[in-house]
Amino acid sequence: MADTAAQKGMAVPLSAFAAGAVVALLIGVFGKVHDPTLAGTTTLGFDTVIAMKVVVSTVIGVLAVLQLIGALWIYGKLGVRAPSWLGAAHRISGAIALVLAVFVAYHCLWALGLESGRLDDGEKVAPRTVVHGVLGCVVFGAVVVKVVAVRSRRAPGWFLPVAGGLLFALLVAVVLTSAVWYLGAKGWPGSGGY
Ligand code: HEM
Repeated sequence: MADTAAQKGMAVPLSAFAAGAVVALLIGVFGKVHDPTLAGTTTLGFDTVIAMKVVVSTVIGVLAVLQLIGALWIYGKLGVRAPSWLGAAHRISGAIALVLAVFVAYHCLWALGLESGRLDDGEKVAPRTVVHGVLGCVVFGAVVVKVVAVRSRRAPGWFLPVAGGLLFALLVAVVLTSAVWYLGAKGWPGSGGY
């Protein structure tokens, strides 16, 4: 009897991770086969698409940290009672971070793709760029896992915090390998960087 409950508990996480892996893979395949073009992209009024991505990704990074603090507060890890509005605030800022991440990722995938090996001009793709691109695909797999964890009523108790932690870690890693790298290497967009 106990076994069946444990097996049932694992069915939801395993299928969520499988679905997430498929989504990440499909995004990666698209990033490889798609012909990169700037047509269909926007700078949102910034000098370049890269400048726009750096600024929006910085906002995503800040929201991700706020999401983690909110989640720790909701789970009572901060030693202070969570206010009644925190759950709703966590969901809203989470949705905003997700929409912004999809927007930036679209610009990466559409205008650059999943770069690896050598570019058309023979330039070797930097390991940072490869890692960033792969993490950029995997982060959307983690979004699928998180959504299943939030919605499922039959998942084991550990699944939601693990899904949330995974999404946080991947999103921060994507921002570190792009916007934070850019800010370190070239400064704030428009301040003399290109
Ligand atoms: C979906 C998969 C993604 C792929 C394949 C991808 C790919 C790329 C590539 C090839 C570059 C150029 C890197 C360079 O040569 O400097 C880039 C830049 C950038 N990406 Fe992505 N990316 C993805 C997702 C994301 C996401 C989700 C974010 C933000 C949350 C992001 C933020 C940025 C930023 C800010 C830059 C400009 C800074 C830089 O040059 O690294 N990307 N991306």
